[in-house]
Amino acid sequence: MSNIGSYEERLRGFDWSIGEKELGYKKGDKINIGWYCSDRVCQMGKASKLALVWENHEGHVKKFTYNDIRQLSNTFASLLCGLGLKPGERVCIFMDKVPELYISFLGILKMGGIAQPLFSAFGDESLHTRLSNAETAAILTQKKHVAKVRKIREQLPQLKHIIVVDSEGSPLKEREVAFDMERVPRVDDWKAYESTAETPSVLHYTSGTTGQPKGAQHVHYSLIAQYLTTKWVLDVKDEDIYWCTADPGWVTGTSYGIIGPWANGVTQVVLDAGFGAEKWYAFVERHKVTVWYSAPTAIRLLMKEGKEPVAKYDMSSLRHLCSVGEPLNAEAVIWSKEAFGLPFHDTFWQTETGSIVITNYPGMPIKPGSMGKPFPGITATVVNPKTFEPINNPGTVGLIALRPGWPSMFRTYWKNEETYRSKFKNGWYICGDRASIDADGYFWFVGRDDDVINTGGHLVGPFEIESALLEHQAVAESAAIGKPDPVNMEVVKAFVALKPGFAPSDDLDLEIMNFIRKKLSPLAMPQEIEFVKSLPKTRSGKIMRRLLRAQEWGEPIGDVSTLENE
Ligand code: PRX
Repeated sequence: MSNIGSYEERLRGFDWSIGEKELGYKKGDKINIGWYCSDRVCQMGKASKLALVWENHEGHVKKFTYNDIRQLSNTFASLLCGLGLKPGERVCIFMDKVPELYISFLGILKMGGIAQPLFSAFGDESLHTRLSNAETAAILTQKKHVAKVRKIREQLPQLKHIIVVDSEGSPLKEREVAFDMERVPRVDDWKAYESTAETPSVLHYTSGTTGQPKGAQHVHYSLIAQYLTTKWVLDVKDEDIYWCTADPGWVTGTSYGIIGPWANGVTQVVLDAGFGAEKWYAFVERHKVTVWYSAPTAIRLLMKEGKEPVAKYDMSSLRHLCSVGEPLNAEAVIWSKEAFGLPFHDTFWQTETGSIVITNYPGMPIKPGSMGKPFPGITATVVNPKTFEPINNPGTVGLIALRPGWPSMFRTYWKNEETYRSKFKNGWYICGDRASIDADGYFWFVGRDDDVINTGGHLVGPFEIESALLEHQAVAESAAIGKPDPVNMEVVKAFVALKPGFAPSDDLDLEIMNFIRKKLSPLAMPQEIEFVKSLPKTRSGKIMRRLLRAQEWGEPIGDVSTLENE
């Protein structure tokens, strides 16, 4: 029997107070996610239960009980307070998927700080953009990434402390602090900051069509939705071994790679290593993973390897599979049923929504290719893109719209209230995605409604890439779009017009690609560069990415009446 039981019954009797009650929270109480994910679990009699089993690419394993993560997160909180950091200040986590990442996340919340996780593969410019926007006061990192921080620290006057969690053997510089959580004395007793429901908790940067990435601001009350969706959608139970493959630099890795599982008191496993089909199967076998949360790109990579490697491993521990981040194609659902005897359940949500909003529940009939139905407590529909009125015609495509008000909904974009407000129309939060709803109430994803590129489940903003391209000495103007890719759904393609004196060549092509990879990230690196004489622009001078994208995807070009050189 799944945790959700009958979807229809849950819908009828639903109120978010179900989650509040289970967590022992009452309106007006203190609520600190760091405390809920460690101290409370210990108080519930699970102090010696494993919270985290971590393994790296060399097969080195570390295990932490709930009491360990309670004490170690206290130790991080105490360190941060000792450095003079104050509640409300932003503390960035810039690490690979090492135990310190997961545990310091709780520590930051326990001292009242706002946790700002950033993907460790980000280059110095991606890092700078986000740290400078958030006016981040401290950053926790590893020695392998500290050079990127050093490169930009003089441009970040607000950045007071750089904490290196594994600095042994490498000399540190001014403003840098060495902190090895496994060597310093543990802090057993720590009074968590008395945050309340609306106290800011996590700041996750996400990309849009225009401008630089925006910080989606979450609050401690988000816990209620993250807890309940983990329980009902991911269906975790006390005895489960849960594996979320996402990196906490992205929202899946925090909402469902830290908060959700730990608030539920389950054991989670983390593999700090790159992708490899057999590597992953061996990991499932070794740790007897029961619940697995992954992404379509990873599933497609597994599919590419075929079913033979699956048969080499004992995958019988698996009980429930879920996916997020991009459209989960019907073939992937069917393949997983054949390969693992279980379908992947699609879940749809965003950085902004903080938790799963539309999904296939355990036990609910899956229509392969559909995202499923709204989580109880979420009012979701598709609206007409002009009037923002709900479309009541099954199969008609509109914009996915959610009625604001669930606990984990973001509260604003950091220092960008105007863009935040622009996301609401006619009383709906507009996700920026197109979909239709069928006669049974199932949602079918169609595509993004903007120019954001979704590569392997990661959103990349064209503006950020174009700005970085312009910093290259040869580039006069540029446009970045997503081009179709069989595995990653989309990859970045850049159109580049060169400055006089520069000519297209394979060397220049490679040089520009690497320039972006180093400055931004491997995800943002164009997989293809097309050199052009000029770019299509509107009469007001705006580059028409829409046109380039339509050409690339073989879609109708649409209205070009505003085209400059028409
Ligand atoms: O376009 C949708 C796509 O990813 C976007 C959200 O990306 P992000 O904020 O980075 O969060 C990703 C993980 C929650 C959405 O607006 N997306 C997410 N899940 C799905 C999806 N597209 C299709 N199907 C999904 N299940």
